[in-house]
Amino acid sequence: KFDSLALTPQMGWNSWNKFATNINEQMVKEMADALVSSGLKDVGYNHILLDDGWMDMKRDAQGNLVPHPEKFPNGIKVVADYVHSKGLKFGLYNCAGSETCAGYPGSRGHEYQDALKYAEWGVDYLKYDWCSTGKMNAEEAYTTMRDALYAAGRPILLSICEWGDNDPWNWAPPIGHSWRTTGDIYNCFECAHDHGTHFSWGAINIVNMRDQEMLRKIAGPGHWNDMDMLEIGNGVFTVHEEQTHLALWAILNSPLILGNDIRNIPKETLEVLTNKDIIAINQDPLGIQGFKYGTEGNVEIWVKPMVNNEWAICFFNHSQESIDLTFDWTDKIIKDEVFNKEITFNKENVYKLKDLYQKKEIGTTKQVLKQRLEKSQSLVVRVYK
Ligand code: DGJ
Repeated sequence: KFDSLALTPQMGWNSWNKFATNINEQMVKEMADALVSSGLKDVGYNHILLDDGWMDMKRDAQGNLVPHPEKFPNGIKVVADYVHSKGLKFGLYNCAGSETCAGYPGSRGHEYQDALKYAEWGVDYLKYDWCSTGKMNAEEAYTTMRDALYAAGRPILLSICEWGDNDPWNWAPPIGHSWRTTGDIYNCFECAHDHGTHFSWGAINIVNMRDQEMLRKIAGPGHWNDMDMLEIGNGVFTVHEEQTHLALWAILNSPLILGNDIRNIPKETLEVLTNKDIIAINQDPLGIQGFKYGTEGNVEIWVKPMVNNEWAICFFNHSQESIDLTFDWTDKIIKDEVFNKEITFNKENVYKLKDLYQKKEIGTTKQVLKQRLEKSQSLVVRVYK
């Protein structure tokens, strides 16, 4: 593994959530332009990632992958060059099995050949899926692709897209830079969507369906738990839900990969996505994945230790009603036993609070924190001296 990649969780845009396999050269160029002109690049979203559907249905006579002739008539290198010319990185998708999930040629048996192509085209990032894998061993399959990328000689971030069925947390950290922990996200805040053959899940389901205490122990700079791509800006979430979705992804150090049409983002959504203080939680150099400190009534309290003994604290109203939150800091101690961090609030230890949505100081830990939280709304504060 090239260990200097993904020292903080990767950020960028991926085509899947909004466009599925409906992608093409023109559109990808527009996305690269939009990432820059919207200001998203400036706050850290620096990858353009093509998901399933960029290939032709068949390999060529030599077994090489072929870009889809109508969608990418000028090949992939042209697209990668364009993305690079904007100061962005470029990524592709493939699959460990014989076919991708959408039925295009998978990499099985072609790993080294495909890795050479990616290197030749200037690919910086590979998302590697898990369809049509039969009885394949996941750890071996992903190790083969890692070794193939390494042999191709270009640093390529490896995003492991096994869905948590083969316990990737037990083997993925030395192989990939991130690994999915669940099945696919669905465009809802909290719901289970039945596809007949499998389910996909709302953002809050994704957070709660795995043992985050177990997962946080194995994540850190260069290797992250991936809760799947964001559904922010896809027309279903309220602004409060969008804020909470991003805040939890930030606190849990998930990659922040946009899944919407970035050529066309409502103003309030763009504000959510470009909130530098929330992104700074995700990109904190210590790379400690946060955790749930507890609940007060229906308000979940998620916390994350950061550099300089600063902490991010998210109060999330996980209920269907408005709640008047009151939180008394006095003599509270937040302890992270795994990473050996601790913060105590009392007369001698008073901290300032910044509300990261209002972007202003809201007093100190001497006062009782009071805030009305509508359903699904969160308050995220940075606690500092
Ligand atoms: C399953 C993955 O989990 C999705 O993110 C997406 O890559 C699709 N496959 C593409 O077919």
